[in-house]
Amino acid sequence: MAAGMAAFPRAPCHSRSLATSTSSAHLPTAHSTASWRATDPSFTSGLAHDVLKFEGSIPERPLTAVTRHLAYDWAGFAFAPYGPHWRFMKRLCMSELLGPRTIEQLRPVRAAELAGVLRAASAASAKGETLDISRQLIRMSNNAIMRMVATELPGDMADAARDCAKQVAELVGAFNLEDYVPLCRGWDLQGLSRRTRDVHAKFDALLESMIKTKEKEEVADKANAKDLLDFLMDAAADPAAEVKLTRDSIKAFILDIFTARSDTTAITVEWMMAELLNHPDCLQKLRTELDAVVGRSRLVGEPDVAQMPYLQAVLKEILRLRPPAVFAQREALQPIHVRGYTIPVKTSVFFNIFTIGRDAAWWEEPLEFRPERFMPGGAGEGVDPKGQQLQLMPFGSGRRACPGMGLAMQAVPAFLAALVQCFDWEVPKPPLDMEDEAALVSARKQPLVLLPMQRLHPLPLP
Ligand code: HEM
Repeated sequence: MAAGMAAFPRAPCHSRSLATSTSSAHLPTAHSTASWRATDPSFTSGLAHDVLKFEGSIPERPLTAVTRHLAYDWAGFAFAPYGPHWRFMKRLCMSELLGPRTIEQLRPVRAAELAGVLRAASAASAKGETLDISRQLIRMSNNAIMRMVATELPGDMADAARDCAKQVAELVGAFNLEDYVPLCRGWDLQGLSRRTRDVHAKFDALLESMIKTKEKEEVADKANAKDLLDFLMDAAADPAAEVKLTRDSIKAFILDIFTARSDTTAITVEWMMAELLNHPDCLQKLRTELDAVVGRSRLVGEPDVAQMPYLQAVLKEILRLRPPAVFAQREALQPIHVRGYTIPVKTSVFFNIFTIGRDAAWWEEPLEFRPERFMPGGAGEGVDPKGQQLQLMPFGSGRRACPGMGLAMQAVPAFLAALVQCFDWEVPKPPLDMEDEAALVSARKQPLVLLPMQRLHPLPLP
């Protein structure tokens, strides 16, 4: 590896890297595990733009020792090589698994989990107690994704899955010497392989039992009530399917979306809430919009989001300022020649989403939380986070961009809006700590613990 270079294991880009900016002079020589990082603040979106012109040459994600094992080698989706299996899964994702119809059909599942958080806040409010919002959100988010996968999941399985997901996130984010120092391979000096085997075995048993439960279910007309596991099992049983899904690919896909979805959703809502509490004028604007569009007699829901430009602006501003996925990581399949340098084959390329969103060339006072920049007349008017305009790419860009974007853009603002609509929130010991985890996820360093005061009586739950 070239002097001054470091390479970092990454999740399917949902965890925060330990990477610090390096100078452009530190480019790697051809090396199978070298990494080339578009991370220097002076490069930011301009460089990302130049590299992404060669997006077709970097359509894969490098497998680390941990992800290879957890992701059932290449059987899943997020780490699958760019080939027929990945293309089949992508189509299945966009048309069925995470397509608009499924997102809508599974809305009641998300609403039920949100209602649980609102009830917990209402109970805390009645007793005058604080509530650990971070804990509630991660629990809600994990439960919601598990129940979207298997609607009838027993409660104890959801708890076990949550526990596994936590461990998976830690393992995927850990720096593993084995990936970068060939001499260390096979020695498991950090104990990561053992831990990976353990958690993989637990998750596998859980997924196996979910699939077996499904297989035993009476064959009923599921046309209107399919969950993600139904879709996957139907695809696996389809004799005409161009790619045969195996049991491992089903399990690996569930693991992919479970680890991809839960942290990102919870972290985004957490930061939105925290920034709004620090900016009461913005909170007030959001309340005014909520009162005008939804009123106080019914709960705000995902379909309302399209009518709430200020809520959307708050979401975009958080995805710019505090993107949950700090890096998008890819691997070069062909050499890329950019700005006089060559990125060799098999080199990891890191897009620093975090730095791109704070690029002063695009964003005035980039460190300020100012949703207005995305409102009419603001510099961000018309900029959407889908990865087309590279000054904002929280979901990545190109063919490996996040397939959960549509779901996140509906569910995340609706969760936040419900918290703001139903409760006033007080910071028990101001000022609110805004430090983020200087580790592997862009989560808050301290949990968000707030005092809820119920605003709407009774709670407008459906
Ligand atoms: C605020 C929420 C989210 C953010 C910010 C986010 C961000 C990202 C980013 C940056 C990538 C890498 C893109 C690239 O390499 O260009 C990614 C990939 C991925 N995300 Fe998300 N994500 C979010 C929510 C979700 C949800 C809700 C799901 C699924 C239910 C999901 C599933 C995935 C999967 C499966 C991939 C891998 C795609 C592939 O390799 O083709 N994400 N996400």
